Amino acid sequence: MDKNFLIQEITRLKQEKNAVILAHYYQDEDVQEIADFIGDSLELAKKAQNTNADIIVFAGVHFMAETAKILNPDKKVLLPDWEAGCSLADGCDPKDFSEFKKQYPDHVVVTYINCSAEIKAMSDLVCTSANAKKIIESISEEHKIIFAPDENLGNYLQKETKRDLVLWKGSCVVHEAFSLDKLIELYNKNPTAKIAAHPESESHILKAAHFIGSTSGIINFIKTDPAAVYIVATEAGILHELSKAVPNKTLIPAPSTEDNSCACSECAFMKMNTLEKLYLCLKNESPEMLVTEELRIEALKPIEKMLQLS
Ligand code: 13P
Ligand code: SF4
Repeated sequence: MDKNFLIQEITRLKQEKNAVILAHYYQDEDVQEIADFIGDSLELAKKAQNTNADIIVFAGVHFMAETAKILNPDKKVLLPDWEAGCSLADGCDPKDFSEFKKQYPDHVVVTYINCSAEIKAMSDLVCTSANAKKIIESISEEHKIIFAPDENLGNYLQKETKRDLVLWKGSCVVHEAFSLDKLIELYNKNPTAKIAAHPESESHILKAAHFIGSTSGIINFIKTDPAAVYIVATEAGILHELSKAVPNKTLIPAPSTEDNSCACSECAFMKMNTLEKLYLCLKNESPEMLVTEELRIEALKPIEKMLQLS
């Protein structure tokens, strides 16, 4: 379908239906451009909590739209592509997690927002990469903690908070693919560059980084830091917002292990959403995210605790 037609129709349908489009920084640039708000997982959850729209179109992945629905039971929440999952969420099966949890009955359960509603319902607290340290530090020292599903983020938090965490062994397919050898090679060619990394990256990548933070944290760091060149170790979609925010700085995507055409990491799940799917989902009001009320109430508790602490 013609891009101008899609933009026109999405704009018209949005007004007609009082819909809002929330998009994550990893979305395709056309999707980011048409969104009413772009942000990291925490900002998007907060935006979803405060919107007056009747329909939320969540241009992100399944767990993000599900979180928006948990926070907004009376609004229609749409996800342009139902298959837009996440390796972290998909790698933490509720039955397996329930068995895992049983081994540590006296532990407080903290889960990264990149998990299903069923996992959230089994948690005491939810966190995002932007507030994970703060959430762990809010738990008093005498409590032992389970952290799931991201092992890399868990390892990073153990170092940052000096707390001993029992970790679920999940990972992000995008962030675990960064190559340290290629990163060092790139850095040697750009010795004045600063490396900014997302904490879902492996510990050897984080060790090499000058800054570690959420997608918004990385954008704010690069905006305010005086260096001229940055190597960015997170999903490549962030470069769209970054290049608008800092047009005079040089931004280099961190190289991944696999050689691919753009020599950078892309999340195949995030990129499933397209302008055309966004148009169709607004027009047909489908696929719609639905969560049973029983599950929603249980999953809401740890999300609300997180939002109060953030
Ligand atoms: P942020 O919360 O930092 O935007 O991260 C979301 C995500 O999926 C990272 O892979
Ligand atoms: Fe999940 Fe990784 Fe994609 Fe983020 S980048 S949505 S953590 S698979």
